[in-house]
Amino acid sequence: MSLNAGQMELREEAVRAESPAALALLSGFEHAPRVGVAREMAGVERSPGVGAARRFRSTTPGLVTRQVARAGAVHLVERVEAVGGDGLPSPVQATVLSVLRRSAAIALALGAEFAARTGLDALKRANLEGTLGADKRVAFGELLQAEALAVLHVFGNAVAFLLAPHASEVTVEVGGVEEVLTDNAPLALQGVLWELDQDIGALASDEAQLVGVVAAFAEALMEKIAARAVTAPRLETFTGASWQVEADGFAINGFSPARKAKGSTITMQFKKPHEVVGNHIAKYQAMRLAKMLMAYDFEHKLNPFAELGGFIFTFIGDGKPGTGKTTLIQMMAGMIHEYCGVAGYLFRYQNLSVDNIDSYQGKSGQNARAFINAVLDPAVIGFGTIDDIDQIAGKRGDRQSSAGALEITSVLMDAFAGANTVVRGNCTFGMFSNYPENVDDALRQRAGARFLVDGPQTREDYIDILALLLGK
Ligand SMILES: Nc1ncnc2c1ncn2[C@@H]1O[C@H](COP(=O)(O)OP(=O)(O)OP(=O)(O)O)[C@@H](O)[C@H]1O
Ligand SMILES: [Mg+2]
Repeated sequence: MSLNAGQMELREEAVRAESPAALALLSGFEHAPRVGVAREMAGVERSPGVGAARRFRSTTPGLVTRQVARAGAVHLVERVEAVGGDGLPSPVQATVLSVLRRSAAIALALGAEFAARTGLDALKRANLEGTLGADKRVAFGELLQAEALAVLHVFGNAVAFLLAPHASEVTVEVGGVEEVLTDNAPLALQGVLWELDQDIGALASDEAQLVGVVAAFAEALMEKIAARAVTAPRLETFTGASWQVEADGFAINGFSPARKAKGSTITMQFKKPHEVVGNHIAKYQAMRLAKMLMAYDFEHKLNPFAELGGFIFTFIGDGKPGTGKTTLIQMMAGMIHEYCGVAGYLFRYQNLSVDNIDSYQGKSGQNARAFINAVLDPAVIGFGTIDDIDQIAGKRGDRQSSAGALEITSVLMDAFAGANTVVRGNCTFGMFSNYPENVDDALRQRAGARFLVDGPQTREDYIDILALLLGK
């Protein structure tokens, strides 16, 4: 994998150098929880009506009145190996542990990089020597906090990324991450590892759940840190640059999670171009569009056709029932699928269908958003279709349209030509309908092209279609 513009490499030696420290974190350390509550204690039942408040309260204002918990030992390696316990660590347990170690090492390496770039390491040295000036104290504290936040997020991000290929469909609810300490990076990692240790102990009883707990924990951690980072100062060095860890293909882009781009496995019947009779203009436009998509440049995330013109981001295909609209989708998806197979690109096809309309307020809009986002993903070639759009998207002011259908209309309108629409040229959306006049005017207007699908017209067309349908 090559580096994109503005991307820096997090060198393998730097990550390796942190490996022993990461291993030490997994093998064992002492930690006294400050925010989180140990699971064993939290599990104690109380009689109803008996409050949990302490009877004696310090009256000194500002003094933390919470009882300091005793330091407990955290042994993650033993904890993980004890899951399902049959004496020897299993391949899954070994994978989880090496993912945790690798992620901690990456996080620490990034922390070191951050410290070097911001001058934090010089401040740390001055602090150790006792020469840190009073004027630098605020900056020092803020930088330590920024480093801790960056390290924690990268840790969660790396765990989620590296563990993704091993995840099963088992999902576990871990709740929010509490023990987020931002005094400095090593303490921050200890805090979250302590909590992870608690979660594994309480929630993982077999290997699938172990992976589920760790993955869910990583997601919860990223969410928590990203929310914290909104208001935290001095993070520009981290958010302004991006890093790449070559060996894992892992990219760090500030506080946005790295996801492994996944194509979707498509279960649909593909049609070959010769199986589409008539519909000449639509057919050739679709074939051209499929080829144009292949000009997408994954490195710069742009398609020359999108810049020069001629790229069709959205189109509408309309025609009478049974004239070959669905057939056209099958042909186009088939062609893109084939081209992507040859070029080694990931292809994602999604169809927005009636199933996506939900009776819950807001859920239909979310479904439509998820559909759009999946197709827009700049790491894949995308093709999104909305077959029979008049049934799915509503028309504003029409009493017959359900609230869900109207939500879908508004999301599509925003996505196709809204204030923050970026046409990169990696994907295209097709809308198909028998009754385009039933589609909201503004949505119909957003289609960049109209493909007329009027089916077979001439005597020859009908002979062709008869030959096709009769087969041998
Ligand atoms: N132009 C065509 N070329 C080849 N086959 C066609 C064509 N039009 C229709 N057919 C045949 O008719 C069947 C129905 O076509 P298709 O499902 O594509 O129609 P549609 O336009 O999507 O209809 P609807 O509007 O009802 O969804 C297909 O299985 C296909 O075999
Ligand atoms: Mg159809």
